[in-house]
Amino acid sequence: MNQPDIIVEVIKSGNRFNAFDVDGNKHTSNITTGARKKAFEGEYPLGRFTNKNGKHYWKQIDPSLIEVSNPTPSSVDVPSDHADVLNFIHSSYSMKPKGLVMNELKWKYLIRSAVRGKNIMMTGMAGCGKTMAAKALVNSLDRPDFYFNLGATQDPRATLIGNTHFDKKKGTYFSESLFVKALRTPNAVILLDELTRAHPDAWNILMTVLDYTQRYLRLDEQDGSETVKVADGVTFVATANIGNEYTATRQLDKALIDRFTTIEMDVLNKEEESDLLEYMYPNVDPSLLKNVGEIASMTRNEAKSQTARIMSGISTRTSVEIAGLIFDGFSLEESADIAIYPQYDQSGGIDSERTFVKQIVQRFINDGSSDDLFNDEEVEEATSADQS
Ligand SMILES: Nc1ncnc2c1ncn2[C@@H]1O[C@H](COP(=O)(O)OP(=O)(O)OP(=O)(O)O)[C@@H](O)[C@H]1O
Ligand SMILES: [Mg+2]
Repeated sequence: MNQPDIIVEVIKSGNRFNAFDVDGNKHTSNITTGARKKAFEGEYPLGRFTNKNGKHYWKQIDPSLIEVSNPTPSSVDVPSDHADVLNFIHSSYSMKPKGLVMNELKWKYLIRSAVRGKNIMMTGMAGCGKTMAAKALVNSLDRPDFYFNLGATQDPRATLIGNTHFDKKKGTYFSESLFVKALRTPNAVILLDELTRAHPDAWNILMTVLDYTQRYLRLDEQDGSETVKVADGVTFVATANIGNEYTATRQLDKALIDRFTTIEMDVLNKEEESDLLEYMYPNVDPSLLKNVGEIASMTRNEAKSQTARIMSGISTRTSVEIAGLIFDGFSLEESADIAIYPQYDQSGGIDSERTFVKQIVQRFINDGSSDDLFNDEEVEEATSADQS
């Protein structure tokens, strides 16, 4: 018997009836409006058949055919039975990459949120592993994934919706963005990196997409214009620097934040920090790496103290960078000169942030000896909060 080679479902968007196959490809223009409208109203799929002359035609088919001839892509690893889900979540810590420091509870919460189709937002200070954790999550789930760095987009509409082009032969036509393709992919995991640095237009576009009760993208500002439905099982994972020192980070709209489950990445303490560095650079003298961990943690404690003389501590990204320089034969002093000091303001001379950080580093270079520029009490102050 003649079998359809394509099966479409008709979805109403605004006042249009669009036909999509299971892969999210649009076939609207190949089917008459009448046929699409009837299929939508009668809630039946349409199949594409070929007649004796090799011409295609579309007609109603039995919905049960969909499962047989066109199975939806299976979501391999996302277990549906509750016992399986529990087991999957609670045994997931073994899937966390060794090189990512994140405690078990937070990791499991991350996995659980993804399995449950939550919109996830990773927050935390700069360089603390937000992007790394989001990517690790994507790798742990055997699902189609898409990456968008929203901090780098100049034209949010083009990135998230698409572009209108002009062609002499075809006239004006619209090409959909990769983001639209991602939304149409069942079970996709969509990474929205640096959401806080995105253009406010991007946030507005994302509002309906992220709203659990709406879950659609409007292709045009006008009411009644075409929309794209977010496919079943799609999970969004965003990263954000919230409440940190970065001015480039725009204040995220409260309504947008509300659409996410937030998972805060912890700042590593000095043991975790030096353990990570030792894990990454097993050939470097561990006592040097301990010093790097110590310096980082002292600056972080200072930054969060009430009488802070620096605005922010050294990030894990920077510690890793320093460890890499040491591995390549640079001294701690040289590494600090290149990778740490430029991050701190030198205005104010002796009272500057840079001078303060130099003094901390100096202690480890001089091995704690005599000519420190500031007294031990002050250093004690900066370190004492680190017993957590
Ligand atoms: N928790 C962590 N575990 C392991 N490595 C880390 C961790 N945090 C940071 N790093 C190191 O720092 C680098 C930067 O991390 P990442 O890009 O994930 O930070 P981020 O939080 O996304 O930073 P930003 O706020 O600048 O986007 C990583 O490549 C890794 O080497
Ligand atoms: Mg990042």
